[in-house]
Amino acid sequence: MSTFQAPKGTYDLTPPRSATFLAVREAIAAPLRDSGYGYIETPGFENVELFARGVGESTDIVTKEMYTLTTKGGDQLALRPEGTASVLRAALEANLHKAGNLPVKLWYSGSYYRYERPQAGRYRHFSQVGAEAIGTEDPVLDAELIILADQAYRSLGLRQFRILLNSLGDKECRPVYREALQTFLRDLDLDEETRRRIEINPLRVLDDKRADVQKQLTDAPKLRDYLCDACKAYHEEVRALLTAAGVVYEDDEKLVRGLDYYTRTTFEFVHDGLGSQSAVGGGGRYDGLSEMIGGPELPSVGWALGVDRTVLALEAEGIELDLPYATSVYAVPLGEEARRVLFGVVTGLRRAGIAADFAFGGRGLKGAMKSANRSGARYALVAGERDLAESVVQLKDMESGEQSAVPLTEVAAELAKRLG
Ligand code: HAM
Repeated sequence: MSTFQAPKGTYDLTPPRSATFLAVREAIAAPLRDSGYGYIETPGFENVELFARGVGESTDIVTKEMYTLTTKGGDQLALRPEGTASVLRAALEANLHKAGNLPVKLWYSGSYYRYERPQAGRYRHFSQVGAEAIGTEDPVLDAELIILADQAYRSLGLRQFRILLNSLGDKECRPVYREALQTFLRDLDLDEETRRRIEINPLRVLDDKRADVQKQLTDAPKLRDYLCDACKAYHEEVRALLTAAGVVYEDDEKLVRGLDYYTRTTFEFVHDGLGSQSAVGGGGRYDGLSEMIGGPELPSVGWALGVDRTVLALEAEGIELDLPYATSVYAVPLGEEARRVLFGVVTGLRRAGIAADFAFGGRGLKGAMKSANRSGARYALVAGERDLAESVVQLKDMESGEQSAVPLTEVAAELAKRLG
């Protein structure tokens, strides 16, 4: 160990577990790519004001969890705590919405930073794969995104996840509900901080985990009863589309989410094997966000799935992904001359598209064959002085143990044939 350790609340991805992370990212991205989502990448930091306005001044993310910094030039920046505000900012800046092809469908994958109290499944640096569909109000789009996330999780073999679904209303009906809720909450026996929350973000009070608070909320006005007809119809359509697609979901009126930009459809993917940090992914519609950050009206919807928690979910379900070994051929030289010759063979194999590795450092046969085994290679190439004198290498099938001499000039063709 060196003098240094990974900062609190972070961890490193190292082989072999890192391969699972890559596979999870790929499994989430694949259905998106196949459905018309284009890849977008934005900086790891943004002007702090983007998140303050976008995610919401009163959210925990903005008030407590952002890593902010002032540059030497005096710019106020924040490490991105989430992706949606950045992606929308970038889409607007590139005028993607003006190309006459709405919705603009984008996917992304990257690191996010929140100064949270670390615990199992909750880190200060974590990784998301996300999708945003910008500029269209259409329940089919909301359904598409939920279906694609469900498809991604199923393709990984996950089964013990549930989809929680809710509608938060729009700018017509939510303010009416908000006021009714505030009136109700103000009469309850609550602490100072919660009282403040009633005034700033009353819907978040519904999310309070404490039993004595929950007990008082039984008769709280329900958003469902306040949804306007347009929101109700929209939500019914999303529900019907999900049902038609065979996607099982649960209506959850208490689902409010921790970001302020949501309108109408909101959803969360929760996994029952993860303890308190059970949300593996979440998202929803954010019809007002573009205007909140100075853009035109662009109703949009999206989600982000947490890669870290998805890997934990796989582990909780005991799922081992069927990851093909990276190396097909492992070369073991015996002696100086063999080292040069076999390295030439390996270089040729690699250029021919055959994944090959090499026993470096001039180790003995036994140790080198152990490495060959560990690499998962299907074939080993072994050559010593006597083989070179005959211009052959020994080609060993690592599964059957069978070994045969193959002329040096034919090794690449023979391996290509055997590896199909
Ligand atoms: P979010 O619910 O804040 O939504 O985060 C999405 C997912 O990121 C969570 O479900 C969780 O798996 C993961 N995540 C969040 N914080 C942490 C953490 N501290 N440690 C580990 N994993 C974490 C958003 O970020 C929205 N931008 C989603 C969205 C996209 N809405 C619309 N479009």
